[in-house]
Amino acid sequence: MKTVGIIGGSGYTGGELLRLVINHPKLILDFIYSTTRPGTLISETHQDLLGQLELKFTDQVNTEVDILFLCLGHGNSSIFLENYTFSDTTYIIDLSNDFRLRKDAKFNGREFIYGLPEINRNVIKKAKSIANPGCFATAIQLALLPLAKENKLNSTIHINATTGSTGAGVQNSSTSHFSWRNNNLSWYKPFTHQHLGEIKETLNKIQGKDTDVLFLPQRGDFTRGIFVSAYTLFDGNLKDALKLYEDFYKEEPFTQVSKNEVHLKLVINSNQCFLHLHKHKDQLLITSIIDNLIKGASGQAIQNLNLMIGWEEKLGLQLKTSIF
Ligand SMILES: NC(=O)c1ccc[n+]([C@@H]2O[C@H](COP(=O)([O-])OP(=O)(O)OC[C@H]3O[C@@H](n4cnc5c(N)ncnc54)[C@H](OP(=O)(O)O)[C@@H]3O)[C@@H](O)[C@H]2O)c1
Repeated sequence: MKTVGIIGGSGYTGGELLRLVINHPKLILDFIYSTTRPGTLISETHQDLLGQLELKFTDQVNTEVDILFLCLGHGNSSIFLENYTFSDTTYIIDLSNDFRLRKDAKFNGREFIYGLPEINRNVIKKAKSIANPGCFATAIQLALLPLAKENKLNSTIHINATTGSTGAGVQNSSTSHFSWRNNNLSWYKPFTHQHLGEIKETLNKIQGKDTDVLFLPQRGDFTRGIFVSAYTLFDGNLKDALKLYEDFYKEEPFTQVSKNEVHLKLVINSNQCFLHLHKHKDQLLITSIIDNLIKGASGQAIQNLNLMIGWEEKLGLQLKTSIF
């Protein structure tokens, strides 16, 4: 068994991690750190855990813990790590964007590896520190990796992606307030979303040249999930495209290529990404769906951990969706 500490356990990704850790056969909770509620029962915050967890939030940190998950807003992970020196044997997985770009990857004697197993599995297996990818970035990269690998991203990629309200975190804001969000739709940060950096870094590295990505993020009036529609010029027919995707993902436990049209509920509450391809004239439309809190965050963090420790990649992650 390995011990786990979670920093920011009262938030959305922290809450999802708690549930995954409790059900993981080789993990045991050591401490759940909170700045605002030390001494209170975790089940008072995550009320679905009533009767299942006696642990309380703490403001104490065990720097000898086996595994540390950082579930903090951007900028706070680096501040937190500056204040504590963890054992060299502690595995650290950060869910923020503090260490995702190559220019930020080295910090306090550690090197953070970009944790997208579908392209970085072998490096992740040797890592002690992981920068977990962003949720939009995960769904979008999985939609484009097979094309990048064959050097087929040669014209502008148009991406429209809608996220549920949990993507914005637990803190209430004007655009996550029920009255605003419900029965509503809007875009935000058009063509400038912060996940473009990690998306382009991956694609540019694989293709060896700059990739033109136009990304329009949207806020949907549902709680969980990301629905990506991406299209770009593709020189080939649908059968060619399908072969390319099926070959690329044939060994992947958490990325599936579906011949049927997909809808968001197929992946909610699971660590799965489902992809669907459609050809129209010279354009290939790729649809990619994930649960932003699982494959887009906490599930992928556990997947990375399983790889780092050398456990079976699917351990604790065989989750059935609830589509009804
Ligand atoms: N939500 C998603 O779908 C998603 C997906 C992928 C990645 N991410 C990334 O994952 C990180 C966490 O996201 P989230 O949605 O879980 O955020 P969240 O719901 O806002 O939770 C963050 C938690 O951090 C704690 N916190 C706030 N300021 C802190 C500080 N200065 N020092 C220590 N703890 C502090 C708070 O807990 P206490 O008040 O209890 O201390 C808060 O509950 C973010 O970087 C986010 O971008 C989120």
